[in-house]
Amino acid sequence: MQSVSWQSIHSPWLFDLLVAMRDPEFHNADIEACRTALKANRLEVPRVDYGAGSTGNIQTISAIARRSLKRPKHARALAALTKHLQATAVLEMGTSLGITTAYIAAHCEQVCTLEGNPTVAAAAQRTWRELNINNIAILEGPFDETLKPALNASDGFDLIFIDGNHRGKALRSYIDQCRDFLSPSGAIVCDDIHWSSDMESAWKEICNQPEWTLCVDFFEWGLLTRNPNLKREMKAIRF
Ligand SMILES: C[S@@+](CC[C@H](N)C(=O)[O-])C[C@H]1O[C@@H](n2cnc3c(N)ncnc32)[C@H](O)[C@@H]1O
Repeated sequence: MQSVSWQSIHSPWLFDLLVAMRDPEFHNADIEACRTALKANRLEVPRVDYGAGSTGNIQTISAIARRSLKRPKHARALAALTKHLQATAVLEMGTSLGITTAYIAAHCEQVCTLEGNPTVAAAAQRTWRELNINNIAILEGPFDETLKPALNASDGFDLIFIDGNHRGKALRSYIDQCRDFLSPSGAIVCDDIHWSSDMESAWKEICNQPEWTLCVDFFEWGLLTRNPNLKREMKAIRF
């Protein structure tokens, strides 16, 4: 994939997105105050291990807030993407403490988010109550049990953010299940595409599927869209 600087992008759609992703407008002081409070929260959380590579049985809210959430820069970028897509409905797989969900919810009508760990899901809901956010619906349970009902109950999604169970086989399967529910100009974001060689080869294979017009590797996450108004290209961009 061709690696380029964001300033050299010709596609107006992508250039405008990159400008928005860096825009301080998407900073949210209230959400960041909740992130700070979560980092100090010593509540123990029994682990539910669905993904790859976790060890130990107990973690704390503090450890999750420090290690598992998208950092502010990326949460802002996802908020900017939500606005750029003029998203009505967004699906997030992997709520965690709901911080990125809150960023996204500020720029669309409705977010449906899926989380398998009940203690973590409860913490996310406390955060949204504190922030007075009312447009997030959470489905608790393993993705294998919640993804299909979430998709079938929807009128489709403009943004689908896949951020849990980082295994190549799972990523391929989630994209297969989600593709018919993605709106024509919508986008799928896949997190941790370089986390393992397994994820990396799944990402490369998905990018080679001809249906995607634009595939962007932002290093920490990748974006796919089949927006028919864009010319087919693959880019790797640090922003
Ligand atoms: C990396 S965190 C999500 C971070 C969040 N999107 C953010 O940006 O702040 C992944 C979450 O997905 C959940 N998860 C992982 N695999 C899952 C599965 N198979 N079913 C349900 N939840 C799962 C984990 O419990 C964890 O809370």
